[in-house]
Amino acid sequence: MKRVITYGTFDMLHYGHINLLKRAKALGDYLIVVLSTDEFNWSEKQKKTYFSYEKRKQLLEAIRYVDLVVPENSWKQKVSDVKLYQVDTFVMGDDWSGQFDFVQDETAAEVVYLPRTPEISTTQIKKDLNEKSFTGKQ
Ligand code: CTP
Repeated sequence: MKRVITYGTFDMLHYGHINLLKRAKALGDYLIVVLSTDEFNWSEKQKKTYFSYEKRKQLLEAIRYVDLVVPENSWKQKVSDVKLYQVDTFVMGDDWSGQFDFVQDETAAEVVYLPRTPEISTTQIKKDLNEKSFTGKQ
């Protein structure tokens, strides 16, 4: 069985996330999503999520491409996760291009960067909703 792993916050789940998860799963048989905890988001990424970790986890677990959701608590856990879960393919969106090549050097996994879906992100959704609620524009 080929195992694939990917990382992220996945707040206010949108079609860009689904596209990423679908393509990640297509690279193997079993997809593990390492989901940033609320504490990790706040202390390391200065991000306050709209949905809590438990809610984001529940949403991801309901997606057919996702087999397992585990917490991300630290930047440093990637190599140990890959070894622990015997991962074959490590997937990230290409906004992280080149930044995790070290995983390939330190484990047997292949690192793949998938192109992001254009024009959608959680940050963009929040921004658009904010602006629309003030202007009333569609
Ligand atoms: N992703 C993607 N296409 C998008 C948005 C996200 O492929 N349009 C991918 C990212 O590259 C990453 C994963 O989905 O591999 C989780 O991304 P995350 O940062 O949680 O989502 P964003 O919508 O980019 O959130 P934010 O705006 O808060 O950065």
